[in-house]
Amino acid sequence: MCLADGMDVGGLTPIEETALLTQYARALDSRRSRPILGDSLANEVIAKIDYDFASLAATPSVVCLVALRAKMLDARIRAFVAEHPDAVVVDIGAGFNGVAFRVDPPPTVDWYSVDLPAVIALRDELLRPRDHSHSVAASILEADWVTTIPGDRPTMVVADGLFAFLTEPMVVTALRSVTGHFESGVIAFNDYGPVSQVNKFLGKLATSRKSNSPHTQWNFPGFKDARIPETWNTELTLIEEASVMNQSDSVLFPPMLRLASRMATRIPAIARKARVLQYGF
Ligand SMILES: C[S@@+](CC[C@H](N)C(=O)[O-])C[C@H]1O[C@@H](n2cnc3c(N)ncnc32)[C@H](O)[C@@H]1O
Repeated sequence: MCLADGMDVGGLTPIEETALLTQYARALDSRRSRPILGDSLANEVIAKIDYDFASLAATPSVVCLVALRAKMLDARIRAFVAEHPDAVVVDIGAGFNGVAFRVDPPPTVDWYSVDLPAVIALRDELLRPRDHSHSVAASILEADWVTTIPGDRPTMVVADGLFAFLTEPMVVTALRSVTGHFESGVIAFNDYGPVSQVNKFLGKLATSRKSNSPHTQWNFPGFKDARIPETWNTELTLIEEASVMNQSDSVLFPPMLRLASRMATRIPAIARKARVLQYGF
């Protein structure tokens, strides 16, 4: 529903509401004098939504980390579609992310954005239609979410910000449905390394006044060794473990995060806290 002063997103569940934080973070990045991602469409989308964005924990560090991991995932999608002009790109847990507009693949590429029905309904109102882009309103935990997507073309599956909110068995199920349906391709996702109970508790504590904090939705315990997903699913082969902390754009981070990124070059545990992983199948 479109209200006079913005679209009403009040019907979203807490897990669906997490899509507002990532989009708002990209919008805030685009407003900086030196943005990392520079996604002005995110800013346009946020302007259409009636929501108290200030209540979200979009700190300068969160803004930079969300923007830079998106930039890294965009680069990996661009490389994949350059190599496979007949590719299918599948963005799972797509939220309101305008990644297809940023990557702007050739018309030979079909792009599928998958999210829960309430999010897809809003997404389809907030983002203008794009040729060769398709919305899939489904949970990726349902067995048949893949059936409307062609499985016989080179496929790039992307999950930006999704897995943290799923349990490990749910992530394993999602990865199985990807490798069970798509004949070949790559899955790329952001990851936080192992997330201890202490980390989760501290995250909740830091944002405890914010009922919409994504920390309240965190479920995934994470993993240290990037080869662990290969043991969940033997069709997966690790092809890249990259850290958001080790990118040249880290010079644009706020001071404390910049310090952490300098330490990350020597302390792998810090580098693991914000990584982008890619697996071939
Ligand atoms: C943190 S948001 C990230 C959204 C988007 N990728 C971005 O970067 O803005 C997580 C998204 O995962 C979606 N999600 C959570 N569980 C899901 C499921 N079982 N199936 C599909 N999407 C799901 C949520 O609705 C939400 O849009």
